[in-house]
Amino acid sequence: MALVTTKEMFAKALVSDYAIGAFNVNNMEIVQGIVDAAKIEKAPLILQVSAGARKYARPAYLLKLVEAAIEDTGLDICLHLDHGEDFDICKKCVDDGFTSVMVDGSKHPFEENIALTKQVVEYAHAHGVVVEAELGKLAGVEDNISVDERSAKFTDPDEAAEFVERTGVDSLAIAIGTSHGAYKFKGDPYLDFDRLKEIHALIPETPLVLHGASTVLREFVDRCNEYGGQIPGAQGVPEEMIREATKYGICKVNIDTDLRLAMTAEIRRFLIESPSEFDPRKYLGPARDAIQRMVQHKIRDVLNASNTL
Ligand code: G3H
Ligand code: 13P
Ligand code: ZN
Repeated sequence: MALVTTKEMFAKALVSDYAIGAFNVNNMEIVQGIVDAAKIEKAPLILQVSAGARKYARPAYLLKLVEAAIEDTGLDICLHLDHGEDFDICKKCVDDGFTSVMVDGSKHPFEENIALTKQVVEYAHAHGVVVEAELGKLAGVEDNISVDERSAKFTDPDEAAEFVERTGVDSLAIAIGTSHGAYKFKGDPYLDFDRLKEIHALIPETPLVLHGASTVLREFVDRCNEYGGQIPGAQGVPEEMIREATKYGICKVNIDTDLRLAMTAEIRRFLIESPSEFDPRKYLGPARDAIQRMVQHKIRDVLNASNTL
């Protein structure tokens, strides 16, 4: 049991039809719900921390929480920085003991993205840390652009091959139609599987990463709304599309929104049904259980990763 990189877990996932869940963590209940689920499902696990989560929970607390989770569960866990926007935050996380960092240079022109990624790869590899980069842009419906404009932002397969070759990056996040948050498609959900297959064929040794992969289960949106929430029109990636993607090199699937929905639905329900209760454990406990159920569902039914340790 230790903090591990993604090297071994990706090597196994790349030659199998399953993917590893990378779940965003912000506090103790979320960490506990996720690791308990991974333990029960006997699945490899990536816990990821965004810059916002790092600021909210503070680096020392997050690190100790993950160390505690490893000790408590006996699992090997990868601790990953999600969407590091510059060299400085990636370096800080490497220095703090993260085993994996994402450098997200996707907003920069191709050559600048390469230069930034190379700089992070050089530093991280010298410290035994692996690096994920991103090429292409994850446009959401909120960007209010046409379908053609949207696909123009998708990852170009030839550029992906050149990018990996020139940066030496360990894994690559690609844009094929997913996006962050709860509003992913206006009409029918669409992922560019031809593009994914082409990218995978060109760089078959490179583990690919799918961001914005929450499925935004109706049940949780409805429950939030039933208890006074106002999130109409939310739409995620259909589960079968995620399952399909794991067959073509997608080794890491990022999930945050679904955890937020599961947790918030539970807390909303409790506070509405028990208005005279004010002990936070009374709603944070069930919220933690809701996270656990959601992560078990993901690992078992969506990522096909149960019993893959
Ligand atoms: O991709 C973004 C993740 O969902 C993290 O979101 O920056 O609000 O922590 P956050
Ligand atoms: P969702 O918003 O679909 O959960 O995506 C999370 C993510 O990509 C984190 O990097
Ligand atoms: Zn993301």
